[in-house]
Order: sequence, then structure tokens, then C-alpha cells
Amino acid sequence: MRYLTFALAKGRLADKTMELLESIGFSCDEMKEKSRKLIFTNEDLKLKFFLAKASDVPTYVEYGAADIGVVGKDTLLEEKRNLYEVLNLGIGNCRMVVAGPEEMKETLKFGQNFRVATKYPNIAKEYFHFNKKQNVEIIKLNGSVELAPIVGLSEVIVDIVETGSTLRENGLVVLEEICPISARMVVNRVSMKIEYERITNLIEKMKKIIDNE
Ligand code: PRP
Repeated sequence: MRYLTFALAKGRLADKTMELLESIGFSCDEMKEKSRKLIFTNEDLKLKFFLAKASDVPTYVEYGAADIGVVGKDTLLEEKRNLYEVLNLGIGNCRMVVAGPEEMKETLKFGQNFRVATKYPNIAKEYFHFNKKQNVEIIKLNGSVELAPIVGLSEVIVDIVETGSTLRENGLVVLEEICPISARMVVNRVSMKIEYERITNLIEKMKKIIDNE
């Protein structure tokens, strides 16, 4: 039997994902040991797991280096990779929003030529250029995006909000909602065919667990 390989977005989501997988018997004891290892194996079930930067997970899955990936919808919308999105895991729930100082509320509605800082330039382009037909400048950042309006790099940001405490503590508010976000399971297109039984079986088991939570 060939290995079924999982790429998981490292961080908070990975732990929750492993809990879900464990509850349907897809466990990996090797992953719990503290080590510098990058890939973990369950020899009995012929499973492999690796952790990758969230934005790289869709890439590993599209190219078939992983059969299955678990990653946020934010990353899927941003990366636009060619893969099957098969399941909403109902974890890692948050919202993609436009945020900034309260005073930006009116300008944001119909204004032009303001600046938007974000880790998600494709999502921001889609929202402002295509949906709202606003000509804004999009500035790509790699983290701590809330800094941008505070130091004057941009007027607003496009980012994910979970509890809202980062915004609150920095004097920013949600100005517009773009879409809800949660963790999704994705599958490589070829893997879906050659491992149809194992993968659909996994999806069905996961669905039952998720529906009961
Ligand atoms: C994310 C996001 C916000 C924050 C939102 O950042 O980009 O900054 O979490 O969470 P909250 O609404 O619960 O405060 P992350 O922690 O991933 O760090 P980064 O900004 O450096 O990427």
C-alpha cells in the first residue's frame, strides 16, 4: 500500500487538525515527540504527515507532494491553486475584513486612491478592484499588518480577525466584512482518483465527527 501524505498548516490549526484526525483513528504518535523532524509516519496505517507554512500547503497538494492538505480558506482564496476542496472542518473560524480607524468608514465606501496593506493581495484586489470597482493601491506585507495604518503606511488593512483583540488594542475597528473563513480539507486531483476509497472513507468519517461537534 502506498503512503497517504498529509500537509498541515503549522501553528494553532495543526494541533486542532491532529485532534480531529486522531478521533477517527488517523493518529501519529511520532508527531507528539519533541524533535526537529519535519515528516512523521504511521507505519501501521501507511500515513505520513508534515507541517508546512500555511501559504505553501496548497502548493504541496497541487503538485502531489501531499495527497491531502488542511489549510485556512484565506490561504486557498489567496493562492488559487488547482485542487479539490472537499470539507469544511469547522475549526479555525474567523473573518476576512477591511479594518482601519473609524474615520475611514465613509471614504472606504466609495473613495478612490487610498492604500490597503495586507498579507492577502489577491483577496484585496478581488474585493476592491473587481467587486467594489475602487482604484486603490494594494501593499503586500508579511505580518503584523495592524501596524500599517498606525504608522501611516496605509489607510486601511485587509486581514483576518478572530477575537478582535489585536484590532481593539491598536485602536482599529472592522469597517467592512469580506467573507467568513475556516479550515478546509483539500485533495490533489490525481490522488482523488488513485486513492478514491481511502480518501472518501476519510472524508465520510471526518464529516460524522464534525457534525457531532
Ligand atoms: C493574525 C491576524 C491578526 C490576528 C487576529 O495574525 O493577521 O493580526 O491574528 O487575531 P485576533 O482578532 O484574535 O486578535 P497572526 O497571529 O497570524 O500573526 P501575523 O500578523 O504576524 O501574521
